[in-house]
Amino acid sequence: MSIEEILKLKKEKNAVILAHYYVSDEVQEIADYIGDSYYLSKKAKELEENVIVFCGVSFMGESAKILNPQKKVLMPDRNADCAMAHMVDIENIKRIRQEYEDVAVVCYINSTAKIKAHADVCVTSANAVKIVQRLSNKNIFFIPDGNLGRYVAEQVPQKNVILNSGYCPIHHALTLEEVLKAKKKYPNAQFVVHPECVKELLDEADYIGSTSGIISYVKKSVCKEFIVGTEEGVLYELKKQNPDKKFYVINEQQICQDMKSITLDKIYDVLKNETNQVEIDEGLRQAALKPLDKMLELAK
Ligand code: 13P
Ligand code: SF4
Repeated sequence: MSIEEILKLKKEKNAVILAHYYVSDEVQEIADYIGDSYYLSKKAKELEENVIVFCGVSFMGESAKILNPQKKVLMPDRNADCAMAHMVDIENIKRIRQEYEDVAVVCYINSTAKIKAHADVCVTSANAVKIVQRLSNKNIFFIPDGNLGRYVAEQVPQKNVILNSGYCPIHHALTLEEVLKAKKKYPNAQFVVHPECVKELLDEADYIGSTSGIISYVKKSVCKEFIVGTEEGVLYELKKQNPDKKFYVINEQQICQDMKSITLDKIYDVLKNETNQVEIDEGLRQAALKPLDKMLELAK
């Protein structure tokens, strides 16, 4: 299988390839659109093509299908999943709703459709602060990511943010000790970090933001070296946009294996056979669509 064969098949099938910044370099190279979770969900709604090949994890394909029920959404690897997307107990959401009269359940897009169906609004790391600020509710139950929730709470102190204990195993595992070591090794480098990391890391940061936030910050910065506190796939775009700048990872384990399980062979296979289509029960889709639509509205 060659890249030309994928591109030929893509044309024949009137398909488009979307990819998250965390997938491997070779997949990003053939994608039509690459972006963060917010960009990809917005983009999915604007596409004319009938078939979307979503190079990312399952919650991303699910969101694309929820927003575009008439399209075929194909996942190159059906097992590519985000561990954090499951880290909420639905009973807990119901309990919080009973306990607090004026509460908004704010759900990070890194969540299953079943969880989204219990939320008032979705957010991504690129728009979470803005959306929480815009809500009229005093109480916010932020699910599933406790790290992003705590960061949002700090940025919006006028709200009472109730935290959940979910986390991204990759971002959560990065330690302060490793960051301090990297800073010592690269004294001229700035530290840019994703808000899925723990507070001790965010406190050391020169910039905190989503993958696309990090990319635009680095592009504008006069600094020439950066220690990158997120999944290493983002280095592909960082290097492409900034050939004169240097990038360092904190350790060698900043790798989301689920994102990396997307390969060119699997993309070719799903395109050829139209397998691994995302299918969602219509009742569930309608329920999960509401918070996603509200996100797209409030993030404008
Ligand atoms: P963003 O795409 O919002 O930066 O989030 C990173 C992530 O972990 C996606 O799974
Ligand atoms: Fe989920 Fe973390 Fe992988 Fe993102 S990097 S998909 S949050 S496990």
